[in-house]
Amino acid sequence: MKIKYFVCLFVLILARTIYATEQINSIPTKQSKVILITGASRGIGWESANYLALQGHKVYASVRYLAAFMPTKNALPPSLHVIELDVTDSLSVTRAVELILQNEGRLDVLINNAGCAVFGTLETISIEQARQTFEVNFFGTMRLMQEALPVMRKQGSGLIINVSSTAGVRPTPCWDVYAASKFAIEGMSEAVAAMMRQWNINVVLLEPGATATDFIYKSTEIGQRDTDQHTVFDSFVSNALKWMQDKLADGQNPLEIAKIIACIIAEENPKLRYQTTFKGTQTVAFRHCDPTGEKTVAEQILLIKDLWKGPLEP
Ligand SMILES: NC(=O)c1ccc[n+]([C@@H]2O[C@H](COP(=O)([O-])OP(=O)(O)OC[C@H]3O[C@@H](n4cnc5c(N)ncnc54)[C@H](OP(=O)(O)O)[C@@H]3O)[C@@H](O)[C@H]2O)c1
Repeated sequence: MKIKYFVCLFVLILARTIYATEQINSIPTKQSKVILITGASRGIGWESANYLALQGHKVYASVRYLAAFMPTKNALPPSLHVIELDVTDSLSVTRAVELILQNEGRLDVLINNAGCAVFGTLETISIEQARQTFEVNFFGTMRLMQEALPVMRKQGSGLIINVSSTAGVRPTPCWDVYAASKFAIEGMSEAVAAMMRQWNINVVLLEPGATATDFIYKSTEIGQRDTDQHTVFDSFVSNALKWMQDKLADGQNPLEIAKIIACIIAEENPKLRYQTTFKGTQTVAFRHCDPTGEKTVAEQILLIKDLWKGPLEP
């Protein structure tokens, strides 16, 4: 019991120190960069595109459907260009990067932000829905990295920020497939980061926790697997959905994340991982200090029991 207490205390102090250090090191500079961000039609993507442009960067804010995009009644900052890019379409990715190179002759920063999710326990999600989530979150990120990395290698510099999640380190109930797609981004980024440092290219994982955007309403589908087994989890999934909706509504303001992104871009030597709140750093530190995973499972069981509420059927 005493050892557990000291381990928890150690993790807490470590997380606080790491989080505080990141905040001190991160003071934005005025050097203007050419930036491409995906999924900028709303939420974290839109806030970041707008904020970075106001900071003086040349920002290519990409949206999936240009014709349907109506950002704001106010005029856009002059250095913000809205372009079309669907991360699931290789041709669209190539065209977007070519356009930026034609206009600017370089690409300094790529922010892989576009994302979607499917909500439900594993047995309630269809394989097709899981594929779609991976197509956007994982293969979308991979497509953009494959297009940007050769450009950055030629330049001898570059920064890629992959928007992961604390769920990419420690899943929460009903994010089974979403978490898997973010774990996949974590693995890919960690592998590529080491290789690319040779060319002065930094690959960064940004791990926000709950953020107050429309993600759960506009980018999340509910599991639709065609099976009788659904009923076992029906009320759990709806309890978890309500819990998650409240959590996100009460989450971090996306503008704070935009400011953290600006700080990462200004860093001379960016780290591999950044969390966006102290609680996020605590979560990630806890997970990295749990090599058997049993502490994490125990924590999840408590949460699941809390959300289950009804009788346990087979
Ligand atoms: N909100 C949170 O609590 C939270 C926490 C941790 C991490 N994140 C991550 O943060 C990122 C941004 O999420 P958000 O909260 O800002 O959600 P959001 O407001 O729903 O934004 C998601 C964005 O992704 C775009 N997108 C989806 N599929 C796309 C595709 N095939 N091609 C191009 N763009 C596509 C959406 O465009 P359309 O308008 O065309 O749908 C939208 O612009 C995601 O990667 C998400 O996983 C969010």
